[in-house]
Amino acid sequence: MSEHASKLYPAPEALARAAHVPGMAAYEKLVAEAREDYEGYWSRLARELVSWKKPFTKALDQSNAPFFKWFEDGTLNVSYNCLDKNVEAGLGDKTAIIFEADDGKVTKVSYKALLDKTCQMANALKAQGVKKGDRVVIYMSMSVEGVVAMQACARIGATHSVVFGGFSAQSLRDRIEDARAVMVITADEQLRGGKQLPLKAIVDEAIGLGGCDSIKSVIVYKRTGGNIAWTAGRDQWMHELTAQQSTTCEPEWVSAEHPLFLLYTSGSTGKPKGVQHSTGGYLLMAALTTKWTFDLKPDDIFWCTADIGWVTGHTYIAYGPLALGATEIVFEGVPTYPDAGRFWKMIQDHKVSIFYTAPTAIRSLIKAAESNEAVHPKKYDLSSLRILGSVGEPINPAAWEWYHEHVGGGRCPIVDTFWQTETGGHMITPLPGATPLVPGSCTLPFPGIDAAVVDETGKDVPWGQGGILVVKKPWPSMIRTIWGDPERFKKSYYPADFQGKYYLAGDGAIRDEKTGYFTITGRIDDVLNVSGHRMGTMEIESALVSCTDLVAEAAVVGRPDETTGEAICAFVVLKRPRPTGDEAKAIAKQLRDWVGKEIGPIAKPKDIRFGDNLPKTRSGKIMRRLLRSVAKGEAVTQDTSTLENPAILDQLGQAY
Ligand code: WTA
Repeated sequence: MSEHASKLYPAPEALARAAHVPGMAAYEKLVAEAREDYEGYWSRLARELVSWKKPFTKALDQSNAPFFKWFEDGTLNVSYNCLDKNVEAGLGDKTAIIFEADDGKVTKVSYKALLDKTCQMANALKAQGVKKGDRVVIYMSMSVEGVVAMQACARIGATHSVVFGGFSAQSLRDRIEDARAVMVITADEQLRGGKQLPLKAIVDEAIGLGGCDSIKSVIVYKRTGGNIAWTAGRDQWMHELTAQQSTTCEPEWVSAEHPLFLLYTSGSTGKPKGVQHSTGGYLLMAALTTKWTFDLKPDDIFWCTADIGWVTGHTYIAYGPLALGATEIVFEGVPTYPDAGRFWKMIQDHKVSIFYTAPTAIRSLIKAAESNEAVHPKKYDLSSLRILGSVGEPINPAAWEWYHEHVGGGRCPIVDTFWQTETGGHMITPLPGATPLVPGSCTLPFPGIDAAVVDETGKDVPWGQGGILVVKKPWPSMIRTIWGDPERFKKSYYPADFQGKYYLAGDGAIRDEKTGYFTITGRIDDVLNVSGHRMGTMEIESALVSCTDLVAEAAVVGRPDETTGEAICAFVVLKRPRPTGDEAKAIAKQLRDWVGKEIGPIAKPKDIRFGDNLPKTRSGKIMRRLLRSVAKGEAVTQDTSTLENPAILDQLGQAY
């Protein structure tokens, strides 16, 4: 344990007094309310936070567990809840989105303007033949138009599937094919860090790879005006399609269980899975967690730095803040352009009061600030900040302390929010006006979330003992199924080990002996977390071995990395003699580029190590635990007596 681990930071008094959840007694009261009448608790909140066209009569349907249903006979529309509702409440002129472009240009969009744009886009989608239940892939960078595309799909009951703009043509193709999408919404190019990067060209390439016959049209947002190829009849300019459309569009009222979106994420085996989310339960948790976890108030300026291609950008950019009528920042660029003071300058310029980012970003900005005074947060006026957040991976206590002191001026609580693509919203997190903080701990479950640490048989382990993180009761924003693969859903999340009763998060956790606070100890499956991005080791292995000219066999493990949390380390056996020196370097580069093309640049291995073969037991199983030690540069302490060829351990010691 680090020296910081036992340091407690109580909620600042003034904040606690005025917070939505004002103090631990208020937190405990909510927890008790949920315990005593679980469905009553969620029903009350669903009525308070969501506008229903037709009210639901029943909260939870468990008859076909683990395919749980929430508020099923209620009807609603998410875009109505995020836009019309706020305009009707008199917030039409309030700024919904402050967009800051890569080059620093700022555009403000009011709730009324966002509603108009969304309706025009929704009408354009309908005119293109998109119907309720159709899947629409969105492959865009951070933009107002990206949020509008998502809201427009929600408005007409189409199910969107946003694919992160850093994924390759191959990955995009796989997702289009799996979702049987009818349309792709993209941009000509994206601007990041002063560079123009292709988007439409990658869509063309993806569709060219085959298997995308379901696609009828490609809608292109003109961002840079760069040169792109055009397929007549299929490709359409967004501005041309929307210009002629009316700014009113009656929302499609859908059941609370209607799939709002699919979002593909990595699992431990096979291809990425399409996590399917609902409408009603998802919206409830998006709004509720935004309100309580960030203590969001009408005057706040909220900034979540995530990309809309990840779940954080869905819940805490596209939906949660808008459902509450907040003003939020949408940022196109990167934290290091034009310099590593960009985040701090933007907080200063826009008077951001709630700032939510990832530990990786913080760690890299610490490094930058330490080597260049000019980009240190102390050079900026960050006094508007009142709450900080962290998401996506464990935040190490040293980074936590720096964030707290140098960004938060020692006065802003940090909410370390644990959750997943599958959970839809925060699961274990401090509430800033209540929970005393401990650096490195995500503290306690969100009120109503029944999180626990159990052993392999599903029995609770005592506090102070590590185990498997589960959630014992279904909650409103949980994953409904894996698109097209209900069996995989059951196997992955409701395994027989726990008699199919508990949701298995895939993470290990330990609760503090005295406080019961949770600390996440990392994934217990073959999923890596690199800069807060989820990657399956199997996915990277299959990408490597698909380079059939070169690669005979590959094994991928993670190793700790100071900045990115984990780094990808690939062990490779080639179909030719093991290379060394410059030749090894050249082949390593070739393999990295290959993986970049197969999956996306985020999946490129940091280390590549070549061996004559891989360490295997006599029965032929790759010894992954041993590879993890080698990757870390640790002395191998495992029993190597079963190893067929102990000499390869020396070979694998060298990383390229
Ligand atoms: C990890 C991102 C520790 C965890 C919202 C989880 C965290 C995976 C935290 C989900 C946190 C996320 N502390 N670990 N506060 N937040 N994780 O689906 O391993 O991209 O299972 O969702 O990130 O990643 P995903």
